[in-house]
Amino acid sequence: MKKGRSAVITGNWKMYKTIEEAVSFVETLSPLIADSQVQVYLAVPFTAIYPAAEKVQGLKSPIVIGAQNMNDASEGAFTGEIAAKMLIDAGAKFVILGHSERRHQYGETNELVNKKVKRAISDGLQPVLCIGESESQKEKNETEQVLRTQILESLEGVERDKLSAIILAYEPVWAIGTGKVADPQDVEKEHRLCRSIIAEKWGDDIAQQVIIQYGGSVKPENASELLDIEDVDGLLVGGASLSPQSFSEIINICKGKLQ
Ligand code: PGA
Repeated sequence: MKKGRSAVITGNWKMYKTIEEAVSFVETLSPLIADSQVQVYLAVPFTAIYPAAEKVQGLKSPIVIGAQNMNDASEGAFTGEIAAKMLIDAGAKFVILGHSERRHQYGETNELVNKKVKRAISDGLQPVLCIGESESQKEKNETEQVLRTQILESLEGVERDKLSAIILAYEPVWAIGTGKVADPQDVEKEHRLCRSIIAEKWGDDIAQQVIIQYGGSVKPENASELLDIEDVDGLLVGGASLSPQSFSEIINICKGKLQ
């Protein structure tokens, strides 16, 4: 983490938790992180957005509620889909886009992710844009090319003054949900690379402001080492965000690292 740049820890619940479980999680987590200096985002299932956002407001908790996906259109005949405006209406402030589970299991391309990023921004949701190489791409030494293409294509045409509000999440696909966290030296290298790709295209001033999170098997045991890396401005946490105890431990590890 770097002094002066804000930090965000995001929990990605994926397809877990009912409304009741979500509300009780927020109630339990809030006092555990009361004096944390980091921003805490929680990407909950669609059904839990409204009740979780209401609970957060009622508790005056700093937790920010968001979604895990959305459609790229503003509205229309798209059975089963959800629009950015509907998420905002329910209380979402951000949306995870281009998660590897969406890219690999639902065929999302950089082109579609780019449309979603632009729609989220124009309708008022902050994107948390996920990128990352697969195991075979890593083995073939294609990581740099993959990250470059994902960043440039997913952010193509986004107005320069909107870029600094985007959170980038570097998540090596082989590290997600596997318990295999990336080597800190590799994380350092890839985060520096992501920032330099942004700097080359949009300028160093923008690159220095963009928050770049690491994601993939983050646990309380490895969070500190990851957060000590200068270009790691937070974490995207899947499995370990499902328990208030492990998620709060990760959040509280940030305490002091920002000063
Ligand atoms: P994980 O998931 O922490 O369970 O590896 C991370 C993610 O999918 O965002």
